[in-house]
Amino acid sequence: MPTLDQARIAVIGLGYVGLPLAVAFGRKFPTLGFDINATRVSELREHRDHTLEVSADELRDTPLLDFSDDPAALAGCNVFIVTVPTPIDDYKRPDLRPLESASRTVGRAIGKGGVAIFESTVYPGATEEACVPIIERESGLRFNQDFYAGYSPERINPGDKQHRLETIMKVTSGSTPEVADFVDALYGSIITAGTHKASSIRVAEAAKVIENTQRDVNIALINELALIFHRLGIDTHEVLEAAGTKWNFLPFRPGLVGGHCIGVDPYYLTHKAQQIGYHPDVILAGRRINDGMGSHVARRVAKLMARRNLPTAGAKVLVLGLAFKENCPDVRNTRVVDIVAELRSYNAQVDVHDPWVSADEAKHEYGLDLVAEPQAGQYDAVILAVAHRQFSERGADGIRGFGKPGAVVFDVKRTLPRHAVDDCL
Ligand SMILES: NC(=O)c1ccc[n+]([C@@H]2O[C@H](COP(=O)([O-])OP(=O)(O)OC[C@H]3O[C@@H](n4cnc5c(N)ncnc54)[C@H](O)[C@@H]3O)[C@@H](O)[C@H]2O)c1
Repeated sequence: MPTLDQARIAVIGLGYVGLPLAVAFGRKFPTLGFDINATRVSELREHRDHTLEVSADELRDTPLLDFSDDPAALAGCNVFIVTVPTPIDDYKRPDLRPLESASRTVGRAIGKGGVAIFESTVYPGATEEACVPIIERESGLRFNQDFYAGYSPERINPGDKQHRLETIMKVTSGSTPEVADFVDALYGSIITAGTHKASSIRVAEAAKVIENTQRDVNIALINELALIFHRLGIDTHEVLEAAGTKWNFLPFRPGLVGGHCIGVDPYYLTHKAQQIGYHPDVILAGRRINDGMGSHVARRVAKLMARRNLPTAGAKVLVLGLAFKENCPDVRNTRVVDIVAELRSYNAQVDVHDPWVSADEAKHEYGLDLVAEPQAGQYDAVILAVAHRQFSERGADGIRGFGKPGAVVFDVKRTLPRHAVDDCL
């Protein structure tokens, strides 16, 4: 294994997770940021980060960091940190192809004594069962004799300028006690919040996947309560506010659960559970409830419109926000598309506006043509789907102003005062 002084780091996959990590390591260690996406690499060389996680100044001021899309550039690196996506397929099963491909890249570049650390979210066992055998095969080296592995999950939250890589405690682990110490010291050198050394790679993998699973299930409970209270004619937020005065009541709110993590990671755990013969009821029930919230919102809006003699067929509806969460451009697995699809199934004409999201990406990912500047006074219903700063700054009158007189305004995230809108979750 290298000593810390000898570490030459490669970060494989320069997305939301990999880029901030490469920048943090690049301040202290010779670091190569590697990505198969040549456009991403050339943008980063020009100090442009379209994910908005790292500024041009930060990219400029990281002298030890270089970028490449050429695997040959990995020669000479002795620590490989893999931060590639771990999506699910159409059947909601883990799609390990990016991780397998990155493991092949590492296997071709790693030398004796090298360390491969995985950060991508996986099920317990994936690093040693799925990735390490590929590295062994490609490199011809023996695991835990010639090369080593570690796992250190990422906890960043895109768009969150307060909780940054360096200020979130990091879980570390290694394939032997010595490697665990090395991985822990490596991260300890950049993480000011400290590290937590887990007892094994599987423990660290499991810890990450349950962080997001716990959040998903908690939100599902609140979403289910919102469905019940809606039928009872009780305001969910007023109930949550009252219950929240108890010291141990958790402050979750109803909403759409999208994004690359919370709506996806639980399936990694349920996949592994099913593989070993356990069928997880609670986790999958939570997933079903959360996945149904977009169409629930659309049905509620359609009902409100019907009560005002506004037929949904042919109606013009404006959806404000497409990103999976507020104040960030990330549209991966956004559940706003479920609102749009349900309304379109009633033959409504739906416009979507999101000042954060790239029009090309919306078109490419979802076939949606974003409306750059929605016209005032044009819509039969306005759905405030994402609590972007620009929307709250417009205020209730500004949002209502997009609608015709008597239009329905539905506020998914309770961005506006309750009395100023017609309904909310
Ligand atoms: N985004 C988050 O908030 C977040 C938080 C914690 C953990 N995670 C986990 O971190 C991992 C990465 O997520 P992300 O959001 O950074 O993904 P991302 O899609 O933003 O970026 C992944 C990058 O990896 C590149 N890539 C894909 N396959 C590659 C390969 N074989 N070799 C080299 N590069 C490759 C892509 O081109 C892309 O630039 C996932 O497992 C995710 O679950 C994400």
